[in-house]
Amino acid sequence: MIKVLFFMAICTISSFAADAENGGKLYKKCIACHGADGMGKKSQKAPMVAGQFDWYIQEQIVNIKSGKRANNNSKKMMPYVKNLSESDIADLSLYISQLPLRK
Ligand code: HEC
Repeated sequence: MIKVLFFMAICTISSFAADAENGGKLYKKCIACHGADGMGKKSQKAPMVAGQFDWYIQEQIVNIKSGKRANNNSKKMMPYVKNLSESDIADLSLYISQLPLRK
């Protein structure tokens, strides 16, 4: 019984923690505009995102997805974020926040 409870506790904790590895896989779709290193691309008007706080990144993705943050530039991102789940957004945000700001 104790073992079962322990196992359940571990599962609960891990399902809440963001998964940077999954974030890295999802980030492949963002590279065209934000760059593999997260430094952004001027030609795409895509800002640098590497090293940014995870909570800030998360908020921006949520707001772009919901349309709360909407302008001609952010609209370009819509197709890439509209199908992301809440946990995908958390995973992506963690991954991006861990990209080094300067090499
Ligand atoms: C087609 C190009 C394009 C793609 C692909 C793209 N983005 Fe963006 N992204 C942009 C542009 C342009 C902006 C700036 C929007 C604005 O001016 O408000 C932006 C803004 C952002 C911001 C806000 C940055 C800040 O400092 O406020 C985040 C975070 C972000 N993108 C994450 C992502 C993630 C994660 C993906 C992949 C799922 C992605 N983007 C895919 C073009 C893109």
